[in-house]
Amino acid sequence: MVDAGKLSDLLKQAEEYEENGDYQKAKLIYLDAAELALKFSKQSVKNKVKFETIAAQFIEKAKNTDLLINLSKIDSIPEKSNNNKADTKSTTGKAKSPNDGLIFASSKSSSIDFSKFPFNKTKIEPTIPFGLHTELGNHVDWNPNEEMNGFMMMVGGSGSGKTDGLKSLITELVERGYPCLVLDLHGDIEVPITSINFDFTGEYSINPLKITSLDKGEGGAIPKINQMLDSFQDSIESKFSANMITELRKTLIDLYKKMGIVQKVPDTWSRNPPNFENLNQYLNLLKDTTEARTTYLALLARLTPLLEHPAFTGKNILDIPDIFEYPLRINLKPLTSLSLQAVAADTIMRQVFAYAKSLGFVKEGENKFRLYIVIDEVKILMGFRGKVNDPSHIINILATEARKFGIGLILASQSGTHFGEDVKSNMASKMILKPMNNKEAKLNSKELHINERLLTDLTLPGEGYLITSSDSEPRRVRMHAHSTRPYKADKI
Ligand SMILES: Nc1ncnc2c1ncn2[C@@H]1O[C@H](COP(=O)(O)OP(=O)(O)OP(=O)(O)O)[C@@H](O)[C@H]1O
Ligand SMILES: [Mg+2]
Repeated sequence: MVDAGKLSDLLKQAEEYEENGDYQKAKLIYLDAAELALKFSKQSVKNKVKFETIAAQFIEKAKNTDLLINLSKIDSIPEKSNNNKADTKSTTGKAKSPNDGLIFASSKSSSIDFSKFPFNKTKIEPTIPFGLHTELGNHVDWNPNEEMNGFMMMVGGSGSGKTDGLKSLITELVERGYPCLVLDLHGDIEVPITSINFDFTGEYSINPLKITSLDKGEGGAIPKINQMLDSFQDSIESKFSANMITELRKTLIDLYKKMGIVQKVPDTWSRNPPNFENLNQYLNLLKDTTEARTTYLALLARLTPLLEHPAFTGKNILDIPDIFEYPLRINLKPLTSLSLQAVAADTIMRQVFAYAKSLGFVKEGENKFRLYIVIDEVKILMGFRGKVNDPSHIINILATEARKFGIGLILASQSGTHFGEDVKSNMASKMILKPMNNKEAKLNSKELHINERLLTDLTLPGEGYLITSSDSEPRRVRMHAHSTRPYKADKI
């Protein structure tokens, strides 16, 4: 006999199990209910279609619980929101802001072996021997303490000496007690510091879906989702249609919800975030169960290489507080594609900056610099859309906001056009090396306000014009080559 009441009883029962996290039982009941609805559809000619539809809905619910079962399995590798390192640190004297270190808690954090490169954390005056003045012959130092900020930009053609110059600066800063985070996109910044690879082994990974701001005004899941959508669109060559963005946005909101994270309840923001593996599973599920199949197929075609990569799904999550304690080079070259490199570097920088913010402003009397971030080949991070002036690009955010949180920034690229206006105007120090050709000389001369002839006259690798906030005139300097640095910090 057809008894629709039985179906609503089963629905209630299954939902109760689901609420209590017993997804397996809920799934079985949904399947029973689907079977029953199909039986009713055969028994009732009048309501055949109605019961068939109900059966399909129950099957969809059963599939959804499958996802929840999968999610809960991943969930069981806890990323606890209490008993975390950042919190411990706050009790040992480091400043704490409302957007606190909770988000950096992670019991499955990486344990990088830093012991091979002993690091003396006592910071001394960062008077970096930079090079020789080519016209006057005297030594030229770079001291970020004497400049408006600790930002340095190097621009020059291929072979002009950017990478070599960066290597010198990193080595000198580390010897003076300053941790440096080197995001090495070409894999050629070989310096005597601990180095890890981001690659297919998934030995180290990072979660781009981790919420980085718990600030009630601007944080939570929705800003994270918006930023992630931007990041996908910038770093993936094929364009996304409006439909694809709408569906992806809905999917992400739902995914956070399934992990118990809702925008309206800030207390939920520090819960275990979903990861790319979950997103991949969910998109695949939706591809099979919704009418927007073609949209999901198109999304998966674009996103799968990112979502499946062990650099984003590995279990050994990079421990951000460690980066503020020890110099670290992260070799991103093995990621091979621009999309993977851009998303990885973007995620690392956002999490590093969020952690710096959680430590609060650098106070009067404290050392101005907690960490230097060093990036060669910045162009790669500008992505396929080349949005150099986008204020939400992480490089532009760092250039405008990072100084007060103790971050120094050393960036290099082949052309001045690879940097946004905010970056160029905020860099207290610039080293303009030999341009690639006359066109580049013209561009760099205009972009960086330096006479074009001076640039075309440069011949030697490592030679260029140093412009700093503490000096009114550009100085023609040849940087010390990394291999022949003149003196070590311990000899000063
Ligand atoms: N200050 C220097 N003194 C002497 N030789 C240098 C100096 N700087 C760089 N060189 C040499 O010049 C060559 C090119 O330098 P480097 O690789 O740093 O250039 P680059 O600007 O990074 O080029 P690319 O854009 O192709 O990566 C290297 O062989 C390096 O040893
Ligand atoms: Mg180079």
